[in-house]
Amino acid sequence: MSLSPAAKAAIAASSRSEAIASGSNTATMPVTRALFDQLMVPCFAPAQFVPVRGEGSRVWDQAGRMYIDFASGVAVTALGHCHPAMVKAIEAQARTLWHVSNWFTNEPALRLAQRLVDATFAERVFFCNSGAEANEAALKLARRYAHDRFGPHRSRIVSTVNAFHGRTLFTVTAGGQSKYASGFGPNPTGITHLRYNDVAALEAEFAAHGGEICAVILEPMQGEGGMTPGTPAYLQAARRLCSEHGALLILDEIQSGMGRTGTLFSYMQKGIVPDILTSAKGLGGGFPIGAMLTTTEIATAFSVGVHGTTYGGNPLACAVAGAVFDVINTTEVLDGVKARHALFMEGLKAINARRPVFSDLRGEGVWLGCELAQAWRGRSLDVMHAAGEAGLLVLVAGPDVLRIAPSLVISLDEILEGLARLETALNTALV
Ligand SMILES: Cc1ncc(COP(=O)(O)O)c(C=O)c1O
Repeated sequence: MSLSPAAKAAIAASSRSEAIASGSNTATMPVTRALFDQLMVPCFAPAQFVPVRGEGSRVWDQAGRMYIDFASGVAVTALGHCHPAMVKAIEAQARTLWHVSNWFTNEPALRLAQRLVDATFAERVFFCNSGAEANEAALKLARRYAHDRFGPHRSRIVSTVNAFHGRTLFTVTAGGQSKYASGFGPNPTGITHLRYNDVAALEAEFAAHGGEICAVILEPMQGEGGMTPGTPAYLQAARRLCSEHGALLILDEIQSGMGRTGTLFSYMQKGIVPDILTSAKGLGGGFPIGAMLTTTEIATAFSVGVHGTTYGGNPLACAVAGAVFDVINTTEVLDGVKARHALFMEGLKAINARRPVFSDLRGEGVWLGCELAQAWRGRSLDVMHAAGEAGLLVLVAGPDVLRIAPSLVISLDEILEGLARLETALNTALV
């Protein structure tokens, strides 16, 4: 092959051994919060401080101020920040293989799939990059399965008011909060929203449309929509009705899963088994990954080429998730979640006894909802901002509910310090 000396030089200069990034001004430029407003699409309103470092359940900002983390990146960093097992896994994988696409399989993906299959009802796994994509895959699979088995009339999806399933057009429409779904139309059709925990409504829907329903999609506890636990009777009725009518039960365990409620997945405590389960968030502990789990039979509806993704099953993501899984799926960690639940509830009740600002304290494991009393309704964001001022990262679930979703392995000291900071924030914000 004849190559000019210039072409040879260009190839050599850009080849792996030669091309060490020279560094640009932007690689080291000072960053301020104001830059966010100049550069970013304004669909977020981040806090005024910029986190730069994390360790366990502590985060530091640019000024060196320390925050206790009761948010874990919206229920994501399940093992806290920079857990040694995750650091070890990502460092080893980063030196081995980053990406190959789904034209090839890879070892970390199959090892992670085996762990998930061994530990759950599932026999087949589909990997993707986020919760929304896992739900998108689940909804498409349910429709395709029903289409192939019963025909195109069987496409109706039953969801619930206040549900949250992600931000793709399909998942935002399946979700039950019109503020997220309106203005993008035409939205996908064939989705019904019933009241959550309303067994009678579900029964009536199946009585009227059982022959058209392909799936019911539910969160075992509505997280984003207000930290509303699904009652066992409701979840079991959904399971029964789906089975009776040949519809699939999709459980969205993106927030409730990976140990957050004290079992690997929440369904394991509810006396039900789904047909499809979606996972993300804690699955990667901070590295983006999602998964859809199902049975061999249902999975056949996704034959080669029917669905796909570039990054799903990426070796880096799967290596990290494998390490996360091995830490979480142990009796010590899962029992520790239940013990932490008791401690949180005790601390929150004590705060409320000193000054009754909450009308309800609820949740499971390290996933708690603190509903503001009548006098303080609509003020959850004020408390969240005051918490930032007090050195605490905490979440909201709508205007009336504070959401606490720390790392599963948060320490005793961090819980006590965080609760003290929360009390300061409540006393500052609610005046
Ligand atoms: C229950 C549930 N489903 C789906 C999603 C969407 O996940 P992602 O933001 O990774 O797309 C979320 C995110 O908050 C969630 O809580």
